[in-house]
Amino acid sequence: MEKIRISGNHKLRLKGKVRISGAKNAVLPAIAAALLTKEKVKLNNVPLVKDVFTILTVMKELGARYTIKKNSLSLQIKKIKSDEASYDLIQAMRASILVLGPLLARYGKSIVALPGGCAIGSRPIDLHIHGLEKLGASIILEHGYINAKAKRLHGAEVEFEKKTVGGTENLIMAASLAQGETVLKNCSLEPEVINLCELLVKMGAKIDGIGQEIIRIKGVKELGGATHDIIPDRIEAGTFLIASALTQGDIKLTHIQPEHLDVVIEKLRYSGAKIEKLKDHSLRVIGSEEIKSQDITTSPYPGFPTDMQAQFIVLMTQASGTSIITETIFDRRFSHINELLRLGAAIEIFGDKAIVKGKTPLSGAETIATDLRASASLVLAGLIANGETVINEIEHLDRGYERLEEKMKSLGASIERIKE
Ligand code: UD1
Repeated sequence: MEKIRISGNHKLRLKGKVRISGAKNAVLPAIAAALLTKEKVKLNNVPLVKDVFTILTVMKELGARYTIKKNSLSLQIKKIKSDEASYDLIQAMRASILVLGPLLARYGKSIVALPGGCAIGSRPIDLHIHGLEKLGASIILEHGYINAKAKRLHGAEVEFEKKTVGGTENLIMAASLAQGETVLKNCSLEPEVINLCELLVKMGAKIDGIGQEIIRIKGVKELGGATHDIIPDRIEAGTFLIASALTQGDIKLTHIQPEHLDVVIEKLRYSGAKIEKLKDHSLRVIGSEEIKSQDITTSPYPGFPTDMQAQFIVLMTQASGTSIITETIFDRRFSHINELLRLGAAIEIFGDKAIVKGKTPLSGAETIATDLRASASLVLAGLIANGETVINEIEHLDRGYERLEEKMKSLGASIERIKE
């Protein structure tokens, strides 16, 4: 079992330059999109994180061959070998559900295990299923599997009852090979959805309204290969922004798209950090001595991302005053708070709200990472907690952060991975 050990210090000042990796949440749908064509899809700026290898294992079972050179992935599924994504793989990563739509659209059949419970609350997939049914799929849920069939999907109008990133992506991919026009309403606006649409357009898909709530897709018979760049990971970037704000640091983030971070930047500026947009896809963030408390409410893009909530709570433990953090996307997404309490934070939970009282000194302790972003919040807390913090079960961290401890170390943190 691997752990992370941090020797923290409230006097730590992170300094230096860090290169942000490609977005995990953009590469997963892009990999699934390769199911839509016989030809080769090449993806650049791929983060080599565990979730990527999990979806590649699913793709391999379905018939994919792939090679990885540095951060470029070449992927090809000449022939679909199997129509089934098994429980073992789906329960390892819920986003494997992204293969459902493209597999069904190309192969006419798709059997995908129903994802079970998840550490960040109930995560149903009813919106994916209803949407595919509207496109003509017959879907039966039995023995813990989604069994979907359709000779050829047909265009339809689908309005998502609520915003769903994965649901929007699954439906866009399926509709790209359906017969006729599909109109999707109330689509998610996340940059990762746009990045997927841009890949599909390169593959020959006819998509109108990219980046808007209403997307029109004219289905085509076949899609071809393409080469595509994965956008930078705005959540990894946001995590480093907070690391600098928290430690009165001076960090330059490179290879990012600052406009994807507008709301996070706005909140950090209000809290006192100085953030300067530099010309070359870079940002400089300088943390201030005084951190101002403020309330945040998570919401779909362009709102404050739920994937930054845990990290922001850590910053608020060091702010002067009380802040109210409201989580509207996922229920039970406060598991990190129990761990932060063990480090000395003063936080109370009332339903979907966490009331954070600042400023509390943190002291190092042994903790458990409960999910991906919770792990990142523990790393941040460990940096400024006096003494040693040990984070157990860091496989959660490895799911979505590429070499986080190496990057933190290069900025001056005393952090290491240990094996037991
Ligand atoms: C994606 C991101 C995840 C992020 C989340 C919200 C990936 C791989 N993961 O997850 O990091 O935290 O967006 O920004 O991109 N819902 C339903 N029925 C459905 C689908 C979703 O009720 O069929 C609900 C969910 O339970 C949740 C909300 O809708 O409350 C948003 O979920 P969704 O946008 O689908 O999240 P994911 O795509 O799973």
